[in-house]
Amino acid sequence: MTRRVPEIAFKLLHEEGHTIDLWDKETPPTQGELIKKCQNVDALLSMLSDNLDEAFFSACPHLKVIANYAVGVNNIDLKAAEKFNIPIGNTPDVLTEATSDLALGLILTLSRNLFPAIQNAKEGSWKKWEPLGFLGMELKEKTLGIIGMGRIGSSLAKKAHNGFGMKVLYTSRSKTKKHDPSYKRSTLQELLKSSDIVSIHTDLNSSTKDLIDSSEFEIMRDHAYLVNTSRGEIINQEALVKALKGGLIGGAGLDVTTPEPLPIDHPLFQIPNVVITPHIGSATIEARNLMATLAAKNIIAGLKEEPLPAGL
Ligand code: DGY
Repeated sequence: MTRRVPEIAFKLLHEEGHTIDLWDKETPPTQGELIKKCQNVDALLSMLSDNLDEAFFSACPHLKVIANYAVGVNNIDLKAAEKFNIPIGNTPDVLTEATSDLALGLILTLSRNLFPAIQNAKEGSWKKWEPLGFLGMELKEKTLGIIGMGRIGSSLAKKAHNGFGMKVLYTSRSKTKKHDPSYKRSTLQELLKSSDIVSIHTDLNSSTKDLIDSSEFEIMRDHAYLVNTSRGEIINQEALVKALKGGLIGGAGLDVTTPEPLPIDHPLFQIPNVVITPHIGSATIEARNLMATLAAKNIIAGLKEEPLPAGL
């Protein structure tokens, strides 16, 4: 286990008689440390910060299963896993609400200028009630563009539409999944052109890397907010900095960046209408306990050579 996760995972694995070798440090193992530690293990409970590439798989001949403590599996070379015949589990569903809550939190933080407003009150620069201070944008009737209408995107759509009266535009790879008929399927171009807020919920793969680049920023509305709770690499970050500095968009709410953490002297930290959180999409007690449970169950099943409850 490459980082400490909630106790329930230990309980379930111990009940099955498994021994856990825990990397109990504040930072993840380096690639060398990871390989060294895993050479004799039967199963790995990995984090999104562990790079499980072909070299890793060939160095760990005893591995029978990997349970990634995340829904995203872009840290794993899936082709290599297949080549070495290692089943991979992840943690879908259980973090859907937590992540869509956070996307909504970032949307509200941007649209109501919460970050500067909180700082202003705290620093004592607030003198009196301000008739024209911190004016934001109401969400009712505004258009939310959702890129990727899977579990998390759909959950955000429901919260934004039913709870806040937003109109929803979306892109989706699935041609069959049914959504509320008031949501409109769109092309990416149309979505970017028409949305007041764009939220990214697609996974990271070779076709979604740099999906939002200079030409995408060019067509976005100049007041639009871009929110990302998926993976940093989906946005070309240099293009994002340019777009923000050049006023092509209104602001950005980023729970994910490239790299993580972002160096504190990164230009994004200097731009006032940018809010950055430390990849906390799934960071609720409820979600993390369920992720730990599911990851442990994936390992238990994998070691018995049974289908994983949440296998890819
Ligand atoms: C995931 O599960 O992929 C999130 O990014 C981390 O919880």
